Amino acid sequence: MPWTLGLALAEKRAVCAVASSVLGPLFSQSLYTQGGLGPQAPAGFQRAAPFGLPSLIVARSRSRISGAGDNMARIFSGIQPTGIAHIGNYLGAIQNWVSLQAQHECLWCLVDLHAITVFQDPVLLRAQTLENAALFLACGIDAERGILFHQSAVSAHARLAWIFNCVARMGWLNRMTQFKDKAGKNSEAVSTGLFVYPNLMAADILAYRASHVPVGDDQRQHLELANDIAQKFNHDYGVDFFPVIEPLILGPAARVMSLRNGYQKMSKSDPSDQSRVNLTDKDDVIAQKIKRAKTDPQPLPESAEGFEGRPEARNLVVIYAAIADMTVNDVLRLHGGRGFGPFKDALATLLIEKLAPIRDEAARLRAEPGHVEAVLHRGAMRAQALAEPIMREVERIVGFLPGI
Ligand code: TYM
Repeated sequence: MPWTLGLALAEKRAVCAVASSVLGPLFSQSLYTQGGLGPQAPAGFQRAAPFGLPSLIVARSRSRISGAGDNMARIFSGIQPTGIAHIGNYLGAIQNWVSLQAQHECLWCLVDLHAITVFQDPVLLRAQTLENAALFLACGIDAERGILFHQSAVSAHARLAWIFNCVARMGWLNRMTQFKDKAGKNSEAVSTGLFVYPNLMAADILAYRASHVPVGDDQRQHLELANDIAQKFNHDYGVDFFPVIEPLILGPAARVMSLRNGYQKMSKSDPSDQSRVNLTDKDDVIAQKIKRAKTDPQPLPESAEGFEGRPEARNLVVIYAAIADMTVNDVLRLHGGRGFGPFKDALATLLIEKLAPIRDEAARLRAEPGHVEAVLHRGAMRAQALAEPIMREVERIVGFLPGI
């Protein structure tokens, strides 16, 4: 049995009230509770489960990102710099990061240590780390207000991951569905790094004692495991050091599906480039990918109930809703009952309007010699300054002598 939290319901209610008042509008959307515990979620927002305890107490004892207020929640999220970010990454994660950064203390990480759990060509990994960093800046990530950096530059991630390798249980990792999916029948031949990947992910977040993590729906199980690790660490060492992590799974597009198969998640590792729209795709490529996206012979349904057994239709409408900042029902009011042809044209136009400026701005940033490198370097220095005192305290707690 994984080690579980066991927070009393009354405590959860009290924490919910504090968290909602402190965390501001976007968090009150994400922190809604079902079953009469709190306000209803606005349409299209999905609360992550299980409910977690934000780190409002530890927040006061940490050093902070300059300019961050005392009661700001600390947010951490990461993305693998393999391939090029696609609209699943954008709608499920990056777009939400941009909305969150105005009100919270944010760290955004290109997780290159995670990337090499599957072999990466070193030249390509370096290039894609820079390319994706430029894309995030172009999407509106503010690297002055928050911190944008690459994981390998801050040693705390690997140091804490090792400690977590010694806290997490084999049984917990054996249950990770992403490992099973990625390893397939070949689990004897994959890297040991792939197996302990979730421990590193827990370390990424907890090296900063971050309490909130905006991600797409596919990361839910990893975050539950991160909480199990944090709470087992606290329990084993008799401390109240690591906060409970609250997943923020926001918006209608928390799981964007492949354009070729509505039952599969849109993914950078899908061999077919036609299965996704990349943030660097040219206008004609975007239009062509949407035109060729798999659909079915029926017209679009008039309401969301009509998506039953029609995952490809649902996926395109969800993408439309997320890009246009509309509800799914609003999209169906506009396009329901009509064929896919005009709907696909409208969707392609929307996507091009949204993505072309991002693609062009990223290209401009990449053309400035040393610019993206300098942003990442400065981000790494600032991240290191936050993580180092936390790491030293962790090392003291586990019984290591002070380092140099
Ligand atoms: P990664 O690189 O696979 O994806 C980055 C972010 O994009 C979201 N995402 C999607 N959202 C909607 N639809 C999709 N088809 C889709 N595909 C990806 C992911 O949920 C994620 O939010 N393990 C993580 C990276 C990571 C991390 C962390 C995240 C490492 N350490 C600490 C949060 C906190 C991953 O592989 O994401």
